[in-house]
Amino acid sequence: MGRASSLIDDLSAAARFGGDGDGVTRYAWSPEQMAVLRWLAEQLEALGLTATLDAAGNVIGRWDAGSGKAVVIGSHLDTVPSGGRYDGALGVLAGLDAIRRLKAEGFEPARPVWLASFMDEEGARFRTALMGSRAFVGEDLTELADRRDPAGVTLRDAMTEAGFAFDRLPEAVAIDSVGAYVELHIEQGRVLESAGAGIGIVTGLAGMFGMRATFRGRADHAGTTPMDDRRDALVGASRAVVALRDHATRHPGLLRMTVGTISVQPGGFNIVPASCEFSIDVRAERGDDLDGARAWITALLEDIAGDEDLELDLRHTHSQPPHDFDDNVIAALRQAADAEGAKTVDMKSGAGHDAMVIGRHAPAAMIFVPSRDGVSHSPAEYTAPEQCELGARVLASAVRNLAQPG
Ligand code: GLV
Ligand code: MN
Ligand code: MN
Repeated sequence: MGRASSLIDDLSAAARFGGDGDGVTRYAWSPEQMAVLRWLAEQLEALGLTATLDAAGNVIGRWDAGSGKAVVIGSHLDTVPSGGRYDGALGVLAGLDAIRRLKAEGFEPARPVWLASFMDEEGARFRTALMGSRAFVGEDLTELADRRDPAGVTLRDAMTEAGFAFDRLPEAVAIDSVGAYVELHIEQGRVLESAGAGIGIVTGLAGMFGMRATFRGRADHAGTTPMDDRRDALVGASRAVVALRDHATRHPGLLRMTVGTISVQPGGFNIVPASCEFSIDVRAERGDDLDGARAWITALLEDIAGDEDLELDLRHTHSQPPHDFDDNVIAALRQAADAEGAKTVDMKSGAGHDAMVIGRHAPAAMIFVPSRDGVSHSPAEYTAPEQCELGARVLASAVRNLAQPG
């Protein structure tokens, strides 16, 4: 089998774990996720790296060479529900392919080269986005232990079930060994496709936060309760969904607000909804806009609760400030893209990535490859084989730049 097709073969192989014919679903700590991580560890060992699953379920493949701090290539293998085969997986597998290329050409790194597949970047199961990279940098994650998935399983229990221990998360800290971090990812937007460019040089990432809101009203009979004597929790949530959309649409500068999950209790066609829980996802390029959005949302929900005679429970689930990447790592990626003859576009991204966590502790930057029609978090995600392979070559070239002597 030719070397150029290994990456595409790996993408197909990985998509079989949790693949349902259409999309791919690999939640953190699920059997599918644990199986794909074991498969990755085998691929790394076949290349002569040492592969371990750390205390946070991150696979760390170590090419122990040279001395000093490591050049780390990272991304993730967990997915959103019914996601695509590229978000996260392409970054990990392009990293694997880059190492394969460097080994094949006899490159001798002057420092260690690691590949990291971080656990639970998406946070889809427990609303614990970026958990693996947060553990890796030493953040205190204690408050996540009792978060429950939709089936009522806590994170602590899910970890135990997978053979891990929540209380041992601090053992995953390894950020002090990282000298530089690079991550390849699909763009998840249309900038590269519109520009006809093969590589995005990502100079920074928007910040984000998440909330979980619950309105509580009163269950009543749908046929006998007058319209003006209801405490309908879903009406409150519906007003919020529309107001958030309108506010973010009118806002100058990048501000995005999304309600992506909603559940109604008790949930009967002939019952006035007694309670309604929904998620709110907020992204902005500027930290001030995130702070403003937090205050605005809180006031909005309190107003709606007052108007509709509802009780409000509002919790924060996660938060990451906007991040500008490191100039030296950006330069190494730019040089690598030029060396591969790629047309590049400098860009910022509205999506969350492990690089935003690692980048607060070590020099980091990212490259993007095109996403067809800008589609992502969908089974329709697609990046052409030659675009994937160009990305892997640029990644290999960047590692050559960053891990050479001097
Ligand atoms: C991850 O894909 C995110 O941006 O939420
Ligand atoms: Mn994603
Ligand atoms: Mn991702």
